[in-house]
Amino acid sequence: MSELDPRLDAIVSHIPPGSRVADIGTDHALLPVSLVKTGRASRVVATELNEKPYQTALRQVMESGVNSLVEVRRGDGLVALRPGEVDVVVIAGMGGNTIAGVLERSPEVLAGVTRLVLQPMSDPGDLRMWLARNGWRLADEELVKDDGKFYVIIAAVPGEEPCRDGFMMEIGPVLVGKCSPYLVEYLEKIKGDYQRVLSGLARSRSDEAMAKAIALTSRLTRITEVINRCRQGAV
Ligand SMILES: C[S@@+](CC[C@H](N)C(=O)[O-])C[C@H]1O[C@@H](n2cnc3c(N)ncnc32)[C@H](O)[C@@H]1O
Repeated sequence: MSELDPRLDAIVSHIPPGSRVADIGTDHALLPVSLVKTGRASRVVATELNEKPYQTALRQVMESGVNSLVEVRRGDGLVALRPGEVDVVVIAGMGGNTIAGVLERSPEVLAGVTRLVLQPMSDPGDLRMWLARNGWRLADEELVKDDGKFYVIIAAVPGEEPCRDGFMMEIGPVLVGKCSPYLVEYLEKIKGDYQRVLSGLARSRSDEAMAKAIALTSRLTRITEVINRCRQGAV
């Protein structure tokens, strides 16, 4: 039995066995400790920006007896890494735009990375678009539901991403392509969000609100189509 929660467990499943891994924003360092204890990773560099979680991570790694295989570094994102040091970069539990910013700031480190495993807490569409525009292909995606909340996991590899459609990038082209478990439930939630924004916009008479309402109405139609196709088992 894994000691990790379903979200972190799913992240592990997207890391190829034997990888050298960086866990950016490690906080409690549960992921790196588990990765080396189970032999999934040969070595992990765990980075933290902030002092308190950095100290928590150091303590966790020492107490778990894995300090020869997990190195904890204080620093901003990938800046704390040397080019060629790791194969896989994990960034979990931050906003999608924060994750994109971390990736954007370190092209020389990213050049040697063969896989990104990302778990954005918000704005997954912006993150997918950033990946597609910066030479990363969406290799896999997974939806995890834990304690009533959905978590999106995105695995990306160097390459050309064929999807550039803003709506599809928001909901997840790989999730849709494989009619991922929980997808209908997840899309129904997004549809509810669209409907709430739309009823707010209906109270405004401005041109800007009208333009937004038209765009959202088109998204509502598309999301309803995807939900219906997914319910029928074919997308
Ligand atoms: C919500 S926690 C997520 C912890 C863990 N990755 C997880 O998914 O359970 C986010 C952590 O990222 C750290 N963080 C935020 N921005 C960072 C950055 N630019 N570089 C390194 N760590 C960062 C925060 O200090 C915090 O500990």
